Amino acid sequence: MIELQSLTFRYAGADRDALHDITLTIPDGAFLGIIGPAGAGKTTLAHAIGGIVPHAVRGDFYGAVRVDGLDTADTRLTDLSRIVGTVFQDVESQIISSVVEDELLYGLENFGVPREEIEERMSFALEEVGIAALRHRTIASLSGGQRQKVAIASLVALRPKILVLDEPTGELDPSSSRQIFSLLQKLNREYGMTVVVVEQKIMLLCEFAERLAVLSEGQIARLGTVRGVLGDIAGLEAIGVNCPRSARFSSLLGEKTGQPVPVCVNADEAVEAARRLIG
Ligand SMILES: Nc1ncnc2c1ncn2[C@@H]1O[C@H](COP(=O)(O)OP(=O)(O)OP(=O)(O)O)[C@@H](O)[C@H]1O
Ligand SMILES: [Mg+2]
Repeated sequence: MIELQSLTFRYAGADRDALHDITLTIPDGAFLGIIGPAGAGKTTLAHAIGGIVPHAVRGDFYGAVRVDGLDTADTRLTDLSRIVGTVFQDVESQIISSVVEDELLYGLENFGVPREEIEERMSFALEEVGIAALRHRTIASLSGGQRQKVAIASLVALRPKILVLDEPTGELDPSSSRQIFSLLQKLNREYGMTVVVVEQKIMLLCEFAERLAVLSEGQIARLGTVRGVLGDIAGLEAIGVNCPRSARFSSLLGEKTGQPVPVCVNADEAVEAARRLIG
């Protein structure tokens, strides 16, 4: 379980809080999507869960964050990283090796994973992320999207209980993005990992996440099921959230016809809703 209790964080020298009085509980096994406009505090929140805030970032930290019962402020980052694995928004800063295989190996050896388990974990992660063919390539020869996949595979190999991903598909094309989300779903459902993902591709997020948290100016503006949150299109747009077209459509359809129209999270549902109204 992840527990944020009245969490406030202000970067050193900043004139306002990046996160302000956030209280949020994320149960084990959850698949939570985090959205919100630029500068809302999504990355800071992701870093607070992984302990990077406050351990590796200067600023004023108030309140408490507990992961798996451990208070992040009192737990070393190396110990936290066994529980929470984070994929940074800036993956470049995360990759330290010069060859793909070494990047995965580095984490596994650091974690003291037994030799006989290492190969199985590496091939599973490379295979699932779809980069088995890149295993012996140098990082320098990879595209941004491929590097993103390497960072994700390194984390998958370590099998932390909680995965926090900050815009993991930022450099990926639609089919790779979908592949990553399908993998996250599999890790969530089959391995019981808790997944917290910050994502701009809201259609994709809504298809896979179970719940959404909307951040606005360092605070949780909305929290609920995907459909619950998308039920208030006007409110979300006022915050600066770019809502999925299907949800905008169902909202408009309800408004124009005066009939109750359920929130549509994808194009198929939107077509079905329109069909039902036409009779
Ligand atoms: N290292 C830093 N020092 C000072 N202020 C920072 C720092 N990093 C972020 N901020 C500020 O904290 C606030 C929240 O930033 P954060 O990066 O968490 O937002 P975000 O929602 O992830 O934005 P984006 O969508 O652009 O990634 C912003 O006002 C930002 O300018
Ligand atoms: Mg960010």
